[in-house]
Amino acid sequence: KEMIEQLDQSLMDGRYPIRLRNDEAVFELEQDRVFNDNWVFIGHESEIPEPGDYARRYIGGSDPFIFTRDEDGNVQVLFDSCGHRGTKLCRAEQGNTSHFRCPYHGWTYNNKGELVGVTFKHEAYKEIDPDEWKLPKPAKVDSYAGLVFATMNPDSPSLEEHLGDMKWYIDMNFKFPTNGMEVYGEPYRYVLPVDWKQPCENFGGDDYHISTTHQSAIEGGLISEIWHWDEGPYGGLAERVHTHFEELPEMGHSFAAGMIGEDYSPFYGYDEEIHDCFSAENISQEQYDLARRSVVNIGTIFPNLSFIQVGKGTGSNDSGFLCLRQWQPRAPGETELWSWVLVPKDAPEEQKRKINNVALSSFTPAGNWEQDDLAVWDGITEAAGSTVAKRQGVETSYEMGLGNMSNTEIHDEWPGPGVCYNNHYQEGYGRWFHRRWQEEITKEPLPEGAE
Ligand code: FES
Ligand code: FE
Repeated sequence: KEMIEQLDQSLMDGRYPIRLRNDEAVFELEQDRVFNDNWVFIGHESEIPEPGDYARRYIGGSDPFIFTRDEDGNVQVLFDSCGHRGTKLCRAEQGNTSHFRCPYHGWTYNNKGELVGVTFKHEAYKEIDPDEWKLPKPAKVDSYAGLVFATMNPDSPSLEEHLGDMKWYIDMNFKFPTNGMEVYGEPYRYVLPVDWKQPCENFGGDDYHISTTHQSAIEGGLISEIWHWDEGPYGGLAERVHTHFEELPEMGHSFAAGMIGEDYSPFYGYDEEIHDCFSAENISQEQYDLARRSVVNIGTIFPNLSFIQVGKGTGSNDSGFLCLRQWQPRAPGETELWSWVLVPKDAPEEQKRKINNVALSSFTPAGNWEQDDLAVWDGITEAAGSTVAKRQGVETSYEMGLGNMSNTEIHDEWPGPGVCYNNHYQEGYGRWFHRRWQEEITKEPLPEGAE
């Protein structure tokens, strides 16, 4: 309890108690106060383009929902549990249907969640009020730039407010293509022996790990040597910038970008034939210019959605790509990763396939990048669950970029929101992420008896 209550102070001192990454009581609190009380990602609109399209989704990793488009074309998010005994109605990962028929006793719901059929209705019930047995829904569902979110909390601020200045960076990726992005294929899913907060934070701006964790992949030529930011052939050219929301501590979102000279791999290194998919039509000229020159940009939207746009120079060196990644908490120290590949809607099919292949060869369990990351993250979980961590309150270092450290030069001309640093060795993204976490966890008094 004390550990959580003093977390903001610890972080400002550059320290974080490792135990918070693998603890039963913490996990329970997170499910309730972080995931049920905040806007969480459900899916991309392009996954359900037609009436009747549906996909199975989860809030907080374990609450099952059906993400569907009803017959009127509206997006619906329905609790996937029959009103009769509660079993799951939706048995396929995705598909198209106008109705969901319960496999247990046959109650049938339309894709607005209304109960429209009861088996042997007259013999079994004589009268039954279907309005009483509609499928529950989240308190609010809304979308931004094609990304659909839901919250179980009726008092949540609007989605726009929740995203805040992060919208500027979402636009840079999702509105850069004139007609938007679409999901290619189904999301890739697998379970990691890692606390969900770890990858959220890593994808919020941990550039520090790249030259060590990914060293062998760089040296082996699996990923480009431009990732040696300061030493590689492009090190001198790079106007390397990195931003996070020092001025918006309440948000906990973060964003980091790497910009490079005009000539290197513009438009994220997509093939020239699809460059006309992109324009400044839906974004500002500044966003367009940055997007055009960005060799990588990543971010995390609190609580558990990250995105990564990587320019040409990874994997096969064939193309850039964009992935959405949701870190779904499954158990203390265990996370299910959901990873979507997005492609410009207007690109020809063979280009979409190519982008997808490059993304999969980078960020899947067999991907050039992912393997390295997984190899180091699981050690954190082990230490976090140890008796030593519990008894001695072991803390880990978050000092980088704090006032008394040297790397805090501000990049004055950065046109986007948030504070931007010239130096990419910063850990503010992590400190603010965990402070937002603390704010959510301590909104109400912590339960008595929490150790
Ligand atoms: Fe669905 Fe009985 S559990 S009809
Ligand atoms: Fe990595």
